[in-house]
Amino acid sequence: MSGRLEGKSAMITGAARGIGAAFAQAYAAEGATVAIADIDFPGASETAARIGGDSYAIHLDVTDQSSIDAATAAVEARAGGIDILVNNAALFDLAPITQITRESYDRLFSINVAGTLFCLQAAARSMIARGSAGKIINMASQAGRRGEPLVGVYCATKAAIISLTQSAGLNLIKHGINVNAIAPGVVDGAHWDGVDALFAKYENRPVGEKKRLVGNAVPYGRMGRPEDLTGMAIFLASRESDYVVAQTYNVDGGNWMS
Ligand SMILES: NC(=O)c1ccc[n+]([C@@H]2O[C@H](COP(=O)([O-])OP(=O)(O)OC[C@H]3O[C@@H](n4cnc5c(N)ncnc54)[C@H](O)[C@@H]3O)[C@@H](O)[C@H]2O)c1
Repeated sequence: MSGRLEGKSAMITGAARGIGAAFAQAYAAEGATVAIADIDFPGASETAARIGGDSYAIHLDVTDQSSIDAATAAVEARAGGIDILVNNAALFDLAPITQITRESYDRLFSINVAGTLFCLQAAARSMIARGSAGKIINMASQAGRRGEPLVGVYCATKAAIISLTQSAGLNLIKHGINVNAIAPGVVDGAHWDGVDALFAKYENRPVGEKKRLVGNAVPYGRMGRPEDLTGMAIFLASRESDYVVAQTYNVDGGNWMS
């Protein structure tokens, strides 16, 4: 299938690499004009050049309100508005409860939670001002479904995303704006290389072992790949999901059931 997002303007945060970059490619293939918005502008530019078509890079720091406002205005100017926002930018950290620092807590909540909320708010205001319906997709995680002994802060940020998705979904559907979320399990890439290195440090394991173990434990039989998530991301951005409101969907090879 193709053309499901024909004529739509999408903005994906944290899309320079990983899952966001795969979403950008999939949305472009479905006909959308895609803003690849990332704090890593050179990376976002490379990704936009690789995808081609109508995709373009913009600089965005989701922790900075003036950057969010400027990015929103840039997408409005370039593509006439925002039809689809994916709140994908996030940071991971890991530490036992007794070693969590305020700096780590503030950074993770600032990027993962406040970044999602205020990008969502800016896009919703833009959609409402334009009188247009829209789709907002937040990236949660299986980590938001239950706590983990070493992952207290990240798990809490992702639980907050599930809750925010519910509140925003209920508040905005009267404007024709669907807010939903995707909860991936373990997806291979640079993000999980960093996670693996942190587990190696705190659980005294060889590098690569944690990745192998979590991959083997997935009912599907392997870690996820960014492309495993694109079907859900397209569905939630398309007309086919008009009656889907405030939900978080697990796309995790069977890791979590809810
Ligand atoms: N990879 C996984 O196993 C996994 C599992 C569950 C959920 N997720 C979630 O999926 C999403 C994407 O994950 P990923 O693996 O592709 O991550 P990633 O680390 O590969 O990519 C994150 C992107 O966010 C960007 N970013 C970081 N801080 C930013 C800021 N302040 N402003 C704008 N951009 C910023 C980075 O430059 C990077 O391009 C995240 O929300 C993550 O929490 C990932």
